[in-house]
Amino acid sequence: MPLLWLLLTLLRIVAAATTVDSATDECDAKQQWNWDPYSHHHPCNIKRITQTELKRRFGALGVPNLYPYPLVIVPDNNVGSSNKGTHNDHFANLTKQEHLPLNFPPDFHVTLTGSDSLSSHRRTIPLKQYLYEIMNNNEGETRPDQLGNQTWYLFGETHSGEWANFLRQYNLPSCHSCTELHYQQSLIALSFGIGNVGSGVQWHLHGPGFSETIHGRKHWVLYPPENRPNYNLDYASRHWMEYTYQSLKNWTTDDFEREHQNHEQFLKQWRRRSLASSSDRTQAVSYSMDESKGPSKKKPWECTINAGEMLYFPDQWHHATINLSPYTVFVSSFTSEHED
Ligand SMILES: *[C@@H]1O[C@H](CO)[C@@H](O)[C@H](O)[C@H]1NC(C)=O
Ligand SMILES: *[C@@H]1O[C@H](CO)[C@@H](O)[C@H](O)[C@H]1NC(C)=O
Ligand SMILES: *[C@@H]1O[C@H](CO)[C@@H](O)[C@H](O)[C@H]1NC(C)=O
Repeated sequence: MPLLWLLLTLLRIVAAATTVDSATDECDAKQQWNWDPYSHHHPCNIKRITQTELKRRFGALGVPNLYPYPLVIVPDNNVGSSNKGTHNDHFANLTKQEHLPLNFPPDFHVTLTGSDSLSSHRRTIPLKQYLYEIMNNNEGETRPDQLGNQTWYLFGETHSGEWANFLRQYNLPSCHSCTELHYQQSLIALSFGIGNVGSGVQWHLHGPGFSETIHGRKHWVLYPPENRPNYNLDYASRHWMEYTYQSLKNWTTDDFEREHQNHEQFLKQWRRRSLASSSDRTQAVSYSMDESKGPSKKKPWECTINAGEMLYFPDQWHHATINLSPYTVFVSSFTSEHED
């Protein structure tokens, strides 16, 4: 799909252009702290909202264009880690580990990318071999000190005709730029991914979109556009969690309060705008908790996205992901949003 190709190319250019100084940043971190991907108690400071509440606030189309903050959208009957009864339970059945190969020709090959920030390496192997390797190599885990260019990951390279046919069975998120018409006009691009415990992509950024966890759990960390974090671009995301995350300050009560207020303020502005004319544009917003540019000294926005839940990532927010389950499956929807 040309749009996705363009997005990913852009992503690599952006990452390449913005990460030249970072290779030495983490060498100072002497003591390794163990970030535990198996824990079920990772913090979440991102607003969680049910599908019904989302539609009550913004109407039937769901998330408005260019929503400025991350959101976690959860099914109404949120039961934690099951996607039964959610809008993608059919797709979840198709993508169970034992069912997935049945959707493709017997010798179907997948293209894997490296997990470093630039995703610049490629490897093509049979799907069945990939599924075997993620469950069995290194005891089914991606370790924090594995180099990104040696950490193979099925993510993003899913735009062949076979993948497009298969992904037709995924129900799109609810958003103003996620309608069937947008999809038919290639204004929304889907990408499919599978990773094991500890896998994920190092910090990078691109346009806005959604990422729905279909199986397993996936942890997200994000920073606003003006707070590009320090990270080592040779490694995958788990390395940053081990070497940098713990040295950052916890959010204060004021930070939580401000994050809450941000959403309420946007809602008010959005309602005013949709009542008035399109002339009343949103004023420039500063997202930073530190009120300054450059790497934040505070912890990122973060949350674990369980099966059946999805994250909305705003335009140009830095983010990295760490998969927490032996078989973590997700679909990302890249939108082409303009202001309403
Ligand atoms: C799940 O998928 C399998 C394999 O495609 C199919 O045989 C089964 O009927 C499906 N189950 C449900 C509940 O849809
Ligand atoms: C992988 O990355 C390391 C660290 O940057 C580099 O030394 C090595 O040459 C890379 N390997 C390949 C095959 O590109
Ligand atoms: C920061 O928050 C974590 C829980 O998210 C807690 O375990 C830790 O003790 C806190 N650190 C400080 C310095 O308050």
